[in-house]
Amino acid sequence: MDIVNLDHLSANPLLPEVQEAMIHAIRTDFGNPSSQHKLGDRASEALEKARESVARLINSGSPKEVVFTSGGTESVNLAVKGVAWAKAEKGKHILTSNIEHNAVLRSLRRLKMMDYKVSSVPVDSHGRVNPSDVATALKEDTVLVSIMHSNNEIGTIQPIEEIARITREKNVVFHVDAVDSVGVVPVDVQELGVDLLSFASNPFYGPTGVGGLYVRRGTHIWPLLDGGVQENNRRAGTENLIGIVGMGVAAELAARDMKARMAQMKEMKEKYKIHQIIQITLVMRIIIRKDKETDRQIQIQIQIQTGYLIWEI
Ligand SMILES: Cc1ncc(COP(=O)(O)O)c(C=O)c1O
Repeated sequence: MDIVNLDHLSANPLLPEVQEAMIHAIRTDFGNPSSQHKLGDRASEALEKARESVARLINSGSPKEVVFTSGGTESVNLAVKGVAWAKAEKGKHILTSNIEHNAVLRSLRRLKMMDYKVSSVPVDSHGRVNPSDVATALKEDTVLVSIMHSNNEIGTIQPIEEIARITREKNVVFHVDAVDSVGVVPVDVQELGVDLLSFASNPFYGPTGVGGLYVRRGTHIWPLLDGGVQENNRRAGTENLIGIVGMGVAAELAARDMKARMAQMKEMKEKYKIHQIIQITLVMRIIIRKDKETDRQIQIQIQIQTGYLIWEI
Protein backbone atom coordinates (compact mmCIF):
# COMPACT_ATOMS: atom_id res chain seq x y z
CA MET A 1 0.00 0.00 0.00
CA ASP A 2 1.31 3.45 -0.91
CA ILE A 3 1.60 5.89 1.92
CA VAL A 4 0.59 9.51 1.39
CA ASN A 5 2.67 11.53 3.79
CA LEU A 6 0.99 14.78 4.82
CA ASP A 7 3.34 15.26 7.73
CA HIS A 8 6.36 16.70 5.96
CA LEU A 9 7.50 18.80 8.86
CA SER A 10 8.14 15.76 10.99
CA ALA A 11 10.02 13.84 8.34
CA ASN A 12 10.53 14.22 4.64
CA PRO A 13 11.65 11.62 2.14
CA LEU A 14 15.39 12.13 1.62
CA LEU A 15 16.09 13.58 -1.81
CA PRO A 16 18.11 11.25 -4.07
CA GLU A 17 21.10 13.64 -4.02
CA VAL A 18 21.00 13.63 -0.21
CA GLN A 19 20.88 9.83 -0.10
CA GLU A 20 23.79 9.56 -2.51
CA ALA A 21 25.92 12.00 -0.53
CA MET A 22 25.22 10.12 2.69
CA ILE A 23 26.02 6.75 1.14
CA HIS A 24 29.23 8.19 -0.28
CA ALA A 25 30.10 9.56 3.17
CA ILE A 26 29.40 6.19 4.80
CA ARG A 27 31.85 4.60 2.41
CA THR A 28 34.56 7.22 2.38
CA ASP A 29 34.18 9.81 5.14
CA PHE A 30 33.77 7.50 8.10
CA GLY A 31 36.66 9.10 9.96
CA ASN A 32 36.36 11.24 13.04
CA PRO A 33 36.72 14.94 12.17
CA SER A 34 38.82 15.48 15.31
CA SER A 35 41.40 12.80 14.42
CA GLN A 36 44.85 14.09 13.52
CA HIS A 37 45.45 11.84 10.55
CA LYS A 38 44.41 11.46 6.94
CA LEU A 39 41.01 9.89 7.59
CA GLY A 40 40.27 12.58 10.15
CA ASP A 41 41.29 15.29 7.70
CA ARG A 42 38.95 13.91 5.08
CA ALA A 43 36.09 13.77 7.58
CA SER A 44 36.87 17.28 8.74
CA GLU A 45 36.79 18.57 5.16
CA ALA A 46 33.35 16.99 4.65
CA LEU A 47 32.16 18.54 7.92
CA GLU A 48 33.34 22.02 6.98
CA LYS A 49 31.86 21.76 3.49
CA ALA A 50 28.46 21.00 5.04
CA ARG A 51 28.90 23.91 7.46
CA GLU A 52 29.49 26.27 4.55
CA SER A 53 26.36 25.04 2.76
CA VAL A 54 24.22 25.48 5.85
CA ALA A 55 25.72 28.92 6.56
CA ARG A 56 24.86 29.97 3.00
CA LEU A 57 21.27 28.79 3.37
CA ILE A 58 20.68 31.13 6.33
CA ASN A 59 23.08 33.81 5.04
CA SER A 60 25.28 33.62 8.10
CA GLY A 61 28.27 36.00 8.08
CA SER A 62 30.64 33.08 8.59
CA PRO A 63 30.40 29.26 8.71
CA LYS A 64 32.00 29.53 12.17
CA GLU A 65 28.64 30.81 13.41
CA VAL A 66 27.01 27.42 12.72
CA VAL A 67 27.06 24.79 15.48
CA PHE A 68 25.89 21.31 14.52
CA THR A 69 23.55 19.52 16.90
CA SER A 70 21.29 16.47 17.04
CA GLY A 71 18.23 18.45 15.88
CA GLY A 72 15.85 21.23 16.77
CA THR A 73 15.35 20.26 20.40
CA GLU A 74 19.05 20.27 21.20
CA SER A 75 19.59 23.54 19.34
CA VAL A 76 16.81 25.22 21.29
CA ASN A 77 18.06 23.83 24.62
CA LEU A 78 21.59 24.98 23.81
CA ALA A 79 20.39 28.46 22.93
CA VAL A 80 17.99 28.98 25.81
CA LYS A 81 19.95 27.35 28.62
CA GLY A 82 23.29 28.36 27.12
CA VAL A 83 22.42 32.05 27.29
CA ALA A 84 20.64 31.77 30.65
CA TRP A 85 23.71 30.20 32.26
CA ALA A 86 26.19 32.48 30.56
CA LYS A 87 24.25 35.59 31.62
CA ALA A 88 23.17 34.46 35.10
CA GLU A 89 25.16 37.22 36.77
CA LYS A 90 23.54 39.92 34.68
CA GLY A 91 19.96 38.77 35.24
CA LYS A 92 17.56 35.88 35.38
CA HIS A 93 14.51 37.05 33.49
CA ILE A 94 13.56 35.46 30.16
CA LEU A 95 10.75 36.51 27.86
CA THR A 96 8.93 34.24 25.43
CA SER A 97 5.56 33.93 23.70
CA ASN A 98 2.73 31.65 24.71
CA ILE A 99 2.72 29.62 21.47
CA GLU A 100 6.26 28.23 21.52
CA HIS A 101 7.19 24.61 20.89
CA ASN A 102 7.76 22.39 23.91
CA ALA A 103 11.51 22.48 23.28
CA VAL A 104 11.40 26.14 24.35
CA LEU A 105 8.63 25.85 26.93
CA ARG A 106 10.14 22.90 28.73
CA SER A 107 13.66 24.36 28.65
CA LEU A 108 12.17 27.39 30.34
CA ARG A 109 10.27 25.25 32.81
CA ARG A 110 13.58 23.66 33.77
CA LEU A 111 15.18 27.09 34.19
CA LYS A 112 12.31 28.17 36.41
CA MET A 113 13.25 25.32 38.74
CA MET A 114 16.67 26.95 38.88
CA ASP A 115 15.30 30.31 40.04
CA TYR A 116 14.96 31.96 36.66
CA LYS A 117 11.87 34.09 36.04
CA VAL A 118 9.95 33.57 32.82
CA SER A 119 7.20 35.69 31.32
CA SER A 120 5.17 35.32 28.16
CA VAL A 121 3.75 37.76 25.67
CA PRO A 122 0.32 36.88 24.23
CA VAL A 123 -0.54 36.44 20.55
CA ASP A 124 -3.48 37.87 18.59
CA SER A 125 -6.20 35.84 16.85
CA HIS A 126 -3.76 35.04 14.02
CA GLY A 127 -1.17 33.76 16.46
CA ARG A 128 0.98 36.86 16.00
CA VAL A 129 3.11 38.50 18.66
CA ASN A 130 2.84 42.27 18.89
CA PRO A 131 6.41 43.69 19.05
CA SER A 132 5.27 46.51 21.32
CA ASP A 133 4.21 43.86 23.88
CA VAL A 134 7.80 42.61 23.81
CA ALA A 135 9.13 46.13 24.37
CA THR A 136 6.79 46.60 27.33
CA ALA A 137 7.58 43.23 28.91
CA LEU A 138 11.36 43.69 28.92
CA LYS A 139 12.81 44.28 32.37
CA GLU A 140 16.14 45.47 33.74
CA ASP A 141 17.20 41.90 34.35
CA THR A 142 15.93 40.37 31.05
CA VAL A 143 18.78 38.44 29.47
CA LEU A 144 16.98 36.55 26.72
CA VAL A 145 13.96 36.78 24.44
CA SER A 146 12.95 33.57 22.66
CA ILE A 147 10.25 33.82 19.97
CA MET A 148 9.67 31.31 17.19
CA HIS A 149 9.89 32.17 13.49
CA SER A 150 6.95 30.14 12.17
CA ASN A 151 4.51 28.25 14.31
CA ASN A 152 4.51 24.48 13.90
CA GLU A 153 0.72 24.21 14.13
CA ILE A 154 -0.76 27.26 12.45
CA GLY A 155 2.19 28.50 10.40
CA THR A 156 2.07 32.14 11.48
CA ILE A 157 5.35 33.92 10.86
CA GLN A 158 6.34 36.33 13.61
CA PRO A 159 7.61 39.88 13.09
CA ILE A 160 11.16 38.82 13.94
CA GLU A 161 12.94 41.83 12.43
CA GLU A 162 10.89 44.27 14.48
CA ILE A 163 11.44 42.31 17.67
CA ALA A 164 15.18 42.10 16.94
CA ARG A 165 15.35 45.88 16.69
CA ILE A 166 13.86 46.13 20.17
CA THR A 167 16.13 43.51 21.76
CA ARG A 168 19.25 45.00 20.15
CA GLU A 169 18.43 48.43 21.49
CA LYS A 170 18.05 46.97 24.99
CA ASN A 171 21.12 44.77 24.66
CA VAL A 172 19.12 41.59 25.24
CA VAL A 173 20.03 38.34 23.44
CA PHE A 174 17.37 37.23 20.94
CA HIS A 175 16.86 33.54 20.09
CA VAL A 176 14.55 32.41 17.31
CA ASP A 177 13.26 28.87 16.98
CA ALA A 178 13.17 28.56 13.19
CA VAL A 179 12.91 24.77 13.01
CA ASP A 180 9.87 24.91 10.75
CA SER A 181 11.17 27.75 8.59
CA VAL A 182 14.81 27.18 7.66
CA GLY A 183 14.99 25.59 4.23
CA VAL A 184 11.24 26.00 3.76
CA VAL A 185 10.88 29.78 3.50
CA PRO A 186 13.66 32.38 3.18
CA VAL A 187 15.50 32.90 6.47
CA ASP A 188 18.33 35.42 6.42
CA VAL A 189 19.91 35.78 9.85
CA GLN A 190 21.62 39.04 8.96
CA GLU A 191 18.47 40.62 7.63
CA LEU A 192 16.48 39.38 10.63
CA GLY A 193 19.13 40.68 13.03
CA VAL A 194 18.85 37.75 15.46
CA ASP A 195 21.59 36.48 17.78
CA LEU A 196 20.69 32.79 17.86
CA LEU A 197 18.56 30.72 15.51
CA SER A 198 17.67 27.05 15.83
CA PHE A 199 16.97 24.77 12.89
CA ALA A 200 16.71 21.11 11.91
CA SER A 201 17.46 19.29 8.67
CA ASN A 202 14.27 17.23 8.17
CA PRO A 203 11.92 20.08 7.17
CA PHE A 204 14.06 20.62 4.06
CA TYR A 205 14.44 17.00 2.92
CA GLY A 206 17.52 16.27 4.98
CA PRO A 207 17.82 13.44 7.50
CA THR A 208 16.09 13.49 10.88
CA GLY A 209 18.11 13.87 14.07
CA VAL A 210 20.45 16.51 12.66
CA GLY A 211 20.22 20.23 13.15
CA GLY A 212 22.12 23.31 14.05
CA LEU A 213 22.25 26.53 15.96
CA TYR A 214 23.31 29.82 14.43
CA VAL A 215 25.31 31.77 17.00
CA ARG A 216 26.08 35.34 15.95
CA ARG A 217 29.74 36.17 16.45
CA GLY A 218 30.22 37.64 19.92
CA THR A 219 27.15 35.91 21.46
CA HIS A 220 28.28 34.05 24.54
CA ILE A 221 26.64 30.71 25.36
CA TRP A 222 27.56 27.95 27.74
CA PRO A 223 27.63 24.43 26.29
CA LEU A 224 25.06 21.89 27.47
CA LEU A 225 27.49 19.01 27.24
CA ASP A 226 30.91 18.85 28.81
CA GLY A 227 33.60 16.94 27.00
CA GLY A 228 35.72 17.62 23.95
CA VAL A 229 36.29 20.88 22.14
CA GLN A 230 34.21 20.05 19.07
CA GLU A 231 32.09 22.71 17.40
CA ASN A 232 34.29 25.51 18.61
CA ASN A 233 33.85 24.47 22.24
CA ARG A 234 30.10 24.88 22.05
CA ARG A 235 28.96 21.30 21.62
CA ALA A 236 31.16 18.55 22.94
CA GLY A 237 31.03 15.11 21.34
CA THR A 238 31.92 13.62 17.97
CA GLU A 239 29.72 15.05 15.26
CA ASN A 240 27.14 12.94 13.40
CA LEU A 241 29.10 13.37 10.19
CA ILE A 242 26.95 11.23 7.89
CA GLY A 243 23.81 13.07 8.93
CA ILE A 244 25.54 16.43 8.69
CA VAL A 245 26.76 15.65 5.17
CA GLY A 246 23.13 14.86 4.25
CA MET A 247 21.96 18.14 5.79
CA GLY A 248 24.65 20.04 3.86
CA VAL A 249 23.46 18.71 0.51
CA ALA A 250 19.81 19.24 1.49
CA ALA A 251 20.70 22.85 2.37
CA GLU A 252 22.27 23.44 -1.04
CA LEU A 253 19.19 22.04 -2.76
CA ALA A 254 16.84 24.02 -0.54
CA ALA A 255 18.66 27.25 -1.41
CA ARG A 256 18.57 26.38 -5.11
CA ASP A 257 14.95 25.19 -5.27
CA MET A 258 13.21 27.23 -2.59
CA LYS A 259 11.32 29.53 -4.95
CA ALA A 260 10.04 26.61 -7.04
CA ARG A 261 9.06 24.62 -3.93
CA MET A 262 7.19 27.60 -2.49
CA ALA A 263 5.35 28.16 -5.77
CA GLN A 264 4.36 24.49 -5.89
CA MET A 265 3.11 24.63 -2.32
CA LYS A 266 1.04 27.74 -3.07
CA GLU A 267 -0.44 26.12 -6.15
CA MET A 268 -1.43 23.01 -4.20
CA LYS A 269 -2.91 25.07 -1.42
CA GLU A 270 -5.07 26.97 -3.88
CA LYS A 271 -5.98 23.93 -5.96
CA TYR A 272 -7.11 21.78 -3.07
CA LYS A 273 -8.28 24.68 -0.90
CA ILE A 274 -6.21 23.29 1.88
CA HIS A 275 -6.64 25.55 4.78
CA GLN A 276 -5.43 23.72 7.72
CA ILE A 277 -5.33 20.13 8.61
CA ILE A 278 -7.45 18.50 11.24
CA GLN A 279 -5.73 15.59 12.75
CA ILE A 280 -7.99 13.38 14.75
CA THR A 281 -6.36 10.40 16.23
CA LEU A 282 -8.22 7.71 17.96
CA VAL A 283 -6.10 5.96 20.43
CA MET A 284 -7.48 2.81 21.91
CA ARG A 285 -5.71 1.11 24.67
CA ILE A 286 -6.64 -2.23 26.01
CA ILE A 287 -5.11 -2.88 29.33
CA ILE A 288 -5.39 -6.32 30.77
CA ARG A 289 -4.77 -6.43 34.43
CA LYS A 290 -4.90 -9.45 36.55
CA ASP A 291 -7.02 -8.92 39.56
CA LYS A 292 -6.13 -11.03 42.55
CA GLU A 293 -9.71 -11.83 43.53
CA THR A 294 -11.58 -12.11 40.24
CA ASP A 295 -8.48 -13.43 38.54
CA ARG A 296 -9.11 -11.35 35.44
CA GLN A 297 -10.03 -7.82 34.58
CA ILE A 298 -9.95 -6.04 31.26
CA GLN A 299 -9.91 -2.31 31.05
CA ILE A 300 -10.42 -0.46 27.76
CA GLN A 301 -9.45 3.17 27.43
CA ILE A 302 -10.49 5.21 24.41
CA GLN A 303 -8.82 8.50 23.91
CA ILE A 304 -9.46 11.00 21.11
CA GLN A 305 -6.74 13.47 20.31
CA THR A 306 -7.43 16.44 18.09
CA GLY A 307 -4.69 18.61 16.84
CA TYR A 308 -4.58 20.29 13.52
CA LEU A 309 -7.40 20.82 11.08
CA ILE A 310 -8.13 19.32 7.73
CA TRP A 311 -9.29 21.06 4.75
CA GLU A 312 -11.87 23.60 3.94
CA ILE A 313 -14.91 21.80 2.52
C1 LIG B 1 9.02 24.80 16.17
C2 LIG B 1 9.77 23.57 16.56
N1 LIG B 1 10.80 23.67 17.41
C3 LIG B 1 11.51 22.60 17.79
C4 LIG B 1 11.22 21.35 17.33
C5 LIG B 1 12.04 20.16 17.77
O1 LIG B 1 12.83 19.71 16.71
P1 LIG B 1 13.42 18.20 16.68
O2 LIG B 1 12.26 17.30 16.55
O3 LIG B 1 14.31 18.23 15.46
O4 LIG B 1 14.19 17.97 17.90
C6 LIG B 1 10.16 21.18 16.43
C7 LIG B 1 9.81 19.84 15.93
O5 LIG B 1 8.78 19.57 15.44
C8 LIG B 1 9.41 22.33 16.03
O6 LIG B 1 8.38 22.22 15.18
